[in-house]
Amino acid sequence: MLSFARGVPAPECLAVEELADCARAALERDGRTILSYGPGGGYGPLREWLAERHGVEPSRIVITSGSLQGFVFLAERLVRPGTRVLVEAPTYDRPLKILTRLGAEIVTVPMDDDGLVPDELPQGDFAFLYTIPTFQNPSGRTLSLERRRRLAELAAQRNLLVLEDDPYGLVRYDGEPLPSVFELAGGEQIAYCSSFSKTVAPGVRVGWYVLPPQLAAEIEALAVSTYISPPYLSQATVLEFLRRQSFEPNLERVNDLLRERRDAMLEALARELPEDASWTQPGGGYFVWVDLPSGPPSSKLLAEAEEAGVTFVKGSDFFPGGRGGEHSLRLAFSFVSPEEIAEGVARLGSLVRAAAPAAL
Ligand SMILES: Cc1ncc(COP(=O)(O)O)c(C=O)c1O
Repeated sequence: MLSFARGVPAPECLAVEELADCARAALERDGRTILSYGPGGGYGPLREWLAERHGVEPSRIVITSGSLQGFVFLAERLVRPGTRVLVEAPTYDRPLKILTRLGAEIVTVPMDDDGLVPDELPQGDFAFLYTIPTFQNPSGRTLSLERRRRLAELAAQRNLLVLEDDPYGLVRYDGEPLPSVFELAGGEQIAYCSSFSKTVAPGVRVGWYVLPPQLAAEIEALAVSTYISPPYLSQATVLEFLRRQSFEPNLERVNDLLRERRDAMLEALARELPEDASWTQPGGGYFVWVDLPSGPPSSKLLAEAEEAGVTFVKGSDFFPGGRGGEHSLRLAFSFVSPEEIAEGVARLGSLVRAAAPAAL
């Protein structure tokens, strides 16, 4: 099966030897701390490193076992049945599932190619807005600078907590980085989270949150009551990787590997899809979002594609209640090789073209 479903890095991206070395060095340096219980908010020296990077007190940093674990804590703290939460449409499917499980009333904010449209934020009170402004999962879109400023402004005016999820910001293949909404806004209205999953390795399970002080303390307490303390060995291994200046060269290597895959995906789509198909042009991240207005419903296409040995995630999985994206697909280019991408998109293209006449 050629998988465009898996939003994970290709095995070649993982710096196995270097991380093994870092784990040993971390244990030798600080083994008695790392191998014991300790603060729920994370390994102190990594918390300090992150705090300095974000210009906040270490107590505002909470390091979680992957950033998704932090999302669970935050949602458990802020959401009760019926609580209204804003999300982009489409958005990352796992937070949608978590919010649904907690009984949230999920309200969507429209998007276009420049990301969410701040002036179309629905009126009313919301516990928070969840947004992925850079190389969004699932669309690959990036919020423009102008809209970042406007979102920061509106968040302050409306006293709206914004959770900016930014795991892909550094996974950039071209163009200049944009400031985060958190950086533009300053203060405490914007909570920020990111992860070392895409820049070091998902298996280290190290994500982090920058939160208003009170919320940081509450989330840390939830972490303690869930797992007492997080896996310091992973966190210390990541810190060692950062301290020996391995992070930047590794990121450059990973981005080179993934840029080649992004290019292979965009070239194959241009070659294989019918004229009325359209897709995003991500400058980074893992995903391309494809719209097939005259193609078969993406659930039908998925069943046929799987028979032909290709898989992807259908667009409706990224909308609350599955309402939306019926003719859209999310294609991840991060896991498969450029050759597999060419082959998989060719198979998808022939299924779409074969179905098109019947759909007209
Ligand atoms: C937008 C987004 N947020 C969070 C995550 C989860 O990351 P982590 O591995 O840090 O839990 C992902 C993983 O794919 C993601 O795409």
